[in-house]
Amino acid sequence: MSKVTSSTLIKFKKEGKKFTALTAYDASFAGAFDSEGVDVLLVGDSLGMVLQGHDDTLPVTIADIAYHTACVKRGISRALLIADMPFMSYSTPQQTMENAALLMQAGASMVKVEGGHWLLESVKMLTERGIPVCAHLGLTPQSVNVFGGFKVQGRDAENAQRILDEAKALQAAGAQLLVVECIPPQLAKTITEALTIPVIGIGAGADTDGQILVMHDVLGISSGYIPRFSKNYLKQTGEIRSAIRAYIDEVADGTFPAEEHTFN
Ligand code: KIV
Ligand code: NA
Repeated sequence: MSKVTSSTLIKFKKEGKKFTALTAYDASFAGAFDSEGVDVLLVGDSLGMVLQGHDDTLPVTIADIAYHTACVKRGISRALLIADMPFMSYSTPQQTMENAALLMQAGASMVKVEGGHWLLESVKMLTERGIPVCAHLGLTPQSVNVFGGFKVQGRDAENAQRILDEAKALQAAGAQLLVVECIPPQLAKTITEALTIPVIGIGAGADTDGQILVMHDVLGISSGYIPRFSKNYLKQTGEIRSAIRAYIDEVADGTFPAEEHTFN
């Protein structure tokens, strides 16, 4: 099995083959997800909520992400490994370079950053220096306090246009992948068709090139609030590896996400 790279994902996009991404934070789960065929693994700063028990992702540090990235890296052999840059670890280009380097040295093959126009210089600098970037638009959870809660983004025409413009600008700056979170499915479709780089959706409908979920939601062990866009695959399968295969199969054949998982 050859390793998944950004070229593999571009090939999938061209072929119309829907691919699967999942968060992972340790070697054992990551190893199982990898061997079942999940294409992309993300050490998400969602770990602040699902591992550390915080209400949001803001308390997560670069050391936390580096530690979990190193753990995941040891467990996998095929999947593309992306590490999230946490809150305020990329507020200036210089700080971004230093912190992104720590995640790459911990084992990541790409870093993910939340934001639009203000990030263009950093995306360009990272890419030129050998660090591939996954951008993240829509509901960017590190900005929860600016949004006034975890709210669907891009519902009005002006906001939708801004997100589309930012997606194009991030691609032009060198971003090789884009995550769109909690936006209307029609906007996600427009963005996916407008870009040559692969687009991964979460709460963004079925028309993106790939889907991502938080592993705790897929396995039904998230405490408290379960997001509408997620699906508990353990419930229908009763076994972790089968749950992961069901998720992969439903993304591949387009049954996930269904209408009930999207924000229309
Ligand atoms: O931190 C995370 O888990 C994420 C995904 C939900 C995209 O950023
Ligand atoms: Na994240």
